[in-house]
Amino acid sequence: MNSIAAYDAKVSRFDSEIDALLDRMTLAEKIGQMCQWNVGEHFDYDGLANGIRSGYVGSLLNTVDVNMINELQRVALEESRLGIPLLIGRDVIHGFNTVAPIPLGQAATWNPTVVTQAASAAAAEAARAGVNWTFSPMVDVARDPRWGRIAESFGEDPVLAGKLGAAMIAGYQGKDLSANGKIAACAKHFAGYGAVESGRDYATTNLPENELRNVYLRPFADAVGAGVSAVMTSFSDIDGVPATANTFLLRDVLRGEWGFDGLVISDWDSIRQLQIHGLTANDKESAFEAATAGVDMEMFGDAYAKHLQELIEEGRIDIRQVDTAVANILRAKFRLGLFNHAYVDPESLPPIADERTLAVYKQAAAESIVLLTNNDHVLPLGRDSMRSIAVIGPLADAPYEQLGTWIFDGDASLSVTPLAAIKSLLGESVDIHYEPALPTSRSHDRQAFDAAVNVASSSEAVILFLGEESILSGEAHSRADIGLPGAQVELVKRIRAAGKPVIAVIQAGRPLTLTDIVDEVDAILFAWHPGTMGGPAIADVLFGELTPSGKLPVSFPKMVGQVPIYYSGKNTGKPPSPETVVHIDDIDPHASQLSTGMTAFHLDAGYLPLFPFGYGLSYAEFRYENLRLSSPQIEVGGSLTVRVDLFNTSDRAGTEVVQLYVRDLVGSTTRPVRELKDFQRVYVEPHSQVSVIFEIHSDMLGFFGRNQSFATEPGEFHVWVGADSNATLMGTFEVMAAK
Ligand code: NOJ
Repeated sequence: MNSIAAYDAKVSRFDSEIDALLDRMTLAEKIGQMCQWNVGEHFDYDGLANGIRSGYVGSLLNTVDVNMINELQRVALEESRLGIPLLIGRDVIHGFNTVAPIPLGQAATWNPTVVTQAASAAAAEAARAGVNWTFSPMVDVARDPRWGRIAESFGEDPVLAGKLGAAMIAGYQGKDLSANGKIAACAKHFAGYGAVESGRDYATTNLPENELRNVYLRPFADAVGAGVSAVMTSFSDIDGVPATANTFLLRDVLRGEWGFDGLVISDWDSIRQLQIHGLTANDKESAFEAATAGVDMEMFGDAYAKHLQELIEEGRIDIRQVDTAVANILRAKFRLGLFNHAYVDPESLPPIADERTLAVYKQAAAESIVLLTNNDHVLPLGRDSMRSIAVIGPLADAPYEQLGTWIFDGDASLSVTPLAAIKSLLGESVDIHYEPALPTSRSHDRQAFDAAVNVASSSEAVILFLGEESILSGEAHSRADIGLPGAQVELVKRIRAAGKPVIAVIQAGRPLTLTDIVDEVDAILFAWHPGTMGGPAIADVLFGELTPSGKLPVSFPKMVGQVPIYYSGKNTGKPPSPETVVHIDDIDPHASQLSTGMTAFHLDAGYLPLFPFGYGLSYAEFRYENLRLSSPQIEVGGSLTVRVDLFNTSDRAGTEVVQLYVRDLVGSTTRPVRELKDFQRVYVEPHSQVSVIFEIHSDMLGFFGRNQSFATEPGEFHVWVGADSNATLMGTFEVMAAK
């Protein structure tokens, strides 16, 4: 939010060019700019070229044929009356032909630098294909692991999502958006989409304004502050008004409060869907609602193309509204430099899957892996001491599945699977016995279980590759049961009985409920869908070439009935604590129904997740000590520093994600029990110590209070620094009103 002012300073560079063009445009040409046409697989090339020639098309999506794109850009520049180039949109979500970990995996790195580098590599590959605009990052706060699109998110926390969203935008757009290989970014889905009821994609959201502002809008404000080129509206409705017709969101907040001067695009056909929502009676009214709310461009659909002109002629839509929308679209084209160089020369960009891209994607995959359990330090496996190892499971050698959701252009032939990587790392000296055991993660076919058990019995240790295929997460792929699908739990139990150390490596697009297997295996590595280089990253972590440093960007529930469960909930009037939790089996059947002494928890699950937000182990061992503040007070407008000593007490070097949380004890509205405010990845040599310093500025403590305006309220705060959201090392300070 603070960076908006800085962003304001760099806008409007192209105002005179835009005005000059607008002066020359007919109404039909203006409306044409507001229409994005889908190319897809079956399309009429001549119809498309004619549409462009006539000025009816502002943008295309879903083509990655660079020769055709160059030709269509030529038609736009040379054969249309005004020579306005095209925006070429595509879902480049986590890589292009080469694929990085899913965004939720990237969030587990807590590493903005690697996120920027991964996006930059994706931009270069996409630009090679003629794409100049990606519909990414998705900065929807996602607190429901049932929701398939949690895979595309940065998880449950607005600060983490905001920082990583900004990092991704920086990677796509670079410092100079018009530079070769850079593409426009689009923050989506504005807003509240992550809160769809019961995690069912496209469902309704119910978000009070206070929650919306304090949680769900924050990463979007950060994206705007980072100079994102575009914002996409959400499919969902919010407080009774679909986002695509939501004047409060689009005009009051996005334009009015944040000063966004980029382009607002609908989601796919979401303007016409206003009628299906029951907000409008027909497409004409849908076009009216969306244009009035401030949607500049219609993705797919034809409500604008068919009805805007009539609405203007009837005087229901002011031409100035259309001019503003067109100006926003033209501004994006000027910023991309398309008027000067719309054509793409693929040879001027690095080749697909070049060494640097593979190295960055491997680093991202390695840093995304979260070590959830490691009993008796079973990991890392000793490369030199082992003679035989069993590699079992449906996801050990599944090149497509490891890529994850939304990979239209992903090339599975580039994938290095865990099986291949383990073989290449261990060479001839270790016998690797491979048995997939199940044909897919969802399969109940147990025919190969005996063979898998034999393989386990004849090996020194077992690595079990479990999880869910990529198609089980992503858009419209929500699940009500988020356990390991198919017969995988049974497989774990059968393998366990073989009596060998068992390491589970789980690839998935969401948190899974792992309660059934957590005590059945000696270690769990959660690898998300790690992308092209997932195999080498996993192999290196398993065998200690790399030390895991990933931390959960989202809480892992014990059972699905706990959802939504997130670390930053409110205290309530009856907060639970470890002492008050009763297990359902211990309840006296004759106990009377009381509220006295009762708290907010589930009889059968307690109130804690299986693994909390921010959690992740390392092969190194870290200890936090000596939290000190530069001052016990902070004046509104001022700042203080928090310092801790971080010890690595082990023989291994490691990187720790050091996390800073605060609690505002009393507010004009109730405040979360903890909120992440900052984090740092800190490398520590064996048996050494480093001091970690955070600065807390009073603005970081601000929130939207009872009157929905943003302020830092004076009063007492707690601050914690530690390894996860349960950090115990605490200090206190007071915020004082400015003198
Ligand atoms: C619908 C999805 O919700 C959105 O995220 C995506 O960018 C568009 N389709 C285009 O594919």
